[in-house]
Amino acid sequence: MKAVLCILSILLALTATLVTGNQMNMDDSSKKPGYGKKGGGKGGKKGDCANSTTSVPYIQAFSPQIKAHTLDTRAAFVNADTTQGDWQFQGKVFRAWETQQPSTVPLNRFLTQVNQDYIFSTISSVSGYDANGVVGYVYPTQICDSVPLLGAYNQAAGDHYYTTDVGEHNSLTSSGWSDAGISGYVLPLHDCSCKS
Ligand SMILES: *[C@@H]1O[C@H](CO)[C@@H](O)[C@H](O)[C@H]1NC(C)=O
Repeated sequence: MKAVLCILSILLALTATLVTGNQMNMDDSSKKPGYGKKGGGKGGKKGDCANSTTSVPYIQAFSPQIKAHTLDTRAAFVNADTTQGDWQFQGKVFRAWETQQPSTVPLNRFLTQVNQDYIFSTISSVSGYDANGVVGYVYPTQICDSVPLLGAYNQAAGDHYYTTDVGEHNSLTSSGWSDAGISGYVLPLHDCSCKS
């Protein structure tokens, strides 16, 4: 009987270690809200924030040829159009940084050759998609007056569309698009007194 109790208590101790270990892993991943996951909560010390004055606008463009929306700086699209693209500007969507800043992480772009669909996320890999570069730097959680960059997915067309406008996102999800989660946390356009 004593031996059984002893084995039981060893098992309990092992289980406790495993549970604690899992919680640690969960804490780690919640710092990096990925594609399709809700993340964050407000917080962050002001001192850890990136300088909003040095952020730049990111533009959404659409290619009729490949029926795809994508995000980048205006200069990146100008350059792509001059060489081979047919990207039409759809307007500014948010502000972020072109180089790494305090508390920011890369906003990765992923592309699937299957139907030329682009995905944006702070996670480092997306199943079925190839890494296609870093377009900018954003916050991994909702800190420093940032807002969620919301993704919507049109499965029939194989097209992802991104917005910080909750109303616009809701309009799309009520017209057949699915919610593709939060890509990262960006600065809203209207909160900045920057020139561009
Ligand atoms: C933010 O960047 C601007 C422009 O480079 C600079 O003038 C300002 O001093 C910076 N602010 C801080 C808090 O570093």
